[in-house]
Amino acid sequence: EKGGYDHFMLKEIYEQPSVIKDTYRGRLLPDEGIVRLGGLENHIEKFLNAERIIIVACGTSWHAGLVAEYIIEDFTRIPVEVEYASEFRYRNPIISSKDIIIAISQSGETADTLAAIKLAKQHGAFVYGICNVVGSTISRETHSGTYTHAGPEIGVASTKAFTTQITVLTMLALRLAKAKGTISHSDFVRYLHELALIPTHVEEALKTESKIKEIAAVFKDARNFLYLGRGYNFPVALEGALKLKEISYIHAEGYPAAEMKHGPIALIDESMPVVVVAIKSEHYEKVVSNIQEIKARKGKIIAVVSEGDKVVSEMADYVMEVPHTPEPLTPLLTTIPLQLLSYHIAVMLGRNVDQPRNLAKSVTVE
Ligand code: F6R
Repeated sequence: EKGGYDHFMLKEIYEQPSVIKDTYRGRLLPDEGIVRLGGLENHIEKFLNAERIIIVACGTSWHAGLVAEYIIEDFTRIPVEVEYASEFRYRNPIISSKDIIIAISQSGETADTLAAIKLAKQHGAFVYGICNVVGSTISRETHSGTYTHAGPEIGVASTKAFTTQITVLTMLALRLAKAKGTISHSDFVRYLHELALIPTHVEEALKTESKIKEIAAVFKDARNFLYLGRGYNFPVALEGALKLKEISYIHAEGYPAAEMKHGPIALIDESMPVVVVAIKSEHYEKVVSNIQEIKARKGKIIAVVSEGDKVVSEMADYVMEVPHTPEPLTPLLTTIPLQLLSYHIAVMLGRNVDQPRNLAKSVTVE
């Protein structure tokens, strides 16, 4: 049932091109200039009149929420807050009927996310769910929502659920931006086409696996890793670090690259691998100077770069290439090499990749 792969996690990583397609099938119609989400169409006014959107989730789904914060604010100018469900529910949050809550959950059973939804409903907020498991508790407790069509995710470490969540959230942002008039028609259509190309780009990114395996062999015995990214790729750095922690048990921290000089830079020496997302983007030059700062302290650089990159490729010790796409869509690609890097390190260390110690696939306790 692992389809010839050694682990479910690897199978699920490789399923991403097809499940991203499944997630946008019938919803994304670039040639017609249409994106539509069944659960959204009847409630679009509510979104347009919302004073803010609050995203609640845990773990990897929370990271998808952080990516969504960038994309929804950027495209729609609706203020977005992202909260850990477990903090939100216990801190007497300010919620009103003018707020929209988006709850993101692969399993649809996470206890803290469910409790956050119930609390929001008591305060009269409209709750929109993004779940993978059809008929799950969260999908039933929400007022409306969209399913990701990632198929069953068996590996405890979430991979394809994350990229399909981002796919849904990107479609949602584009649909709202169109309705709100905060995106030009030509940009809108361009993004629809670019989104439709993502599965092919993910396939390209997956082709770097053998190179990533070599990198994994070099760094598998490191005690600590730092992951850095800026803007849209700051949440990708967090997700990369989480993936490494959960399955390899190596300590890893994700940080916004510019925040490094406010503390974590003290950790950098010749035994510290630093994974930097350094794709061509608005922040490219800034990331280049962050890399210089790390090199000056002898840190080892593993960079995720855009295809054909020269500047970072010359500075970095190792690079993992991903195809070009507009910056708001880059998390769908930059995530891929980081998934593979964690996977191979964990396999080389003999870890139980699909069922890491102390973790459960759905956390139905508080
Ligand atoms: C990470 C992981 C967890 C889950 C978290 C939320 O790989 O699997 O961090 O993302 O427990 O689970 P869901 O999305 O099912 O609510």
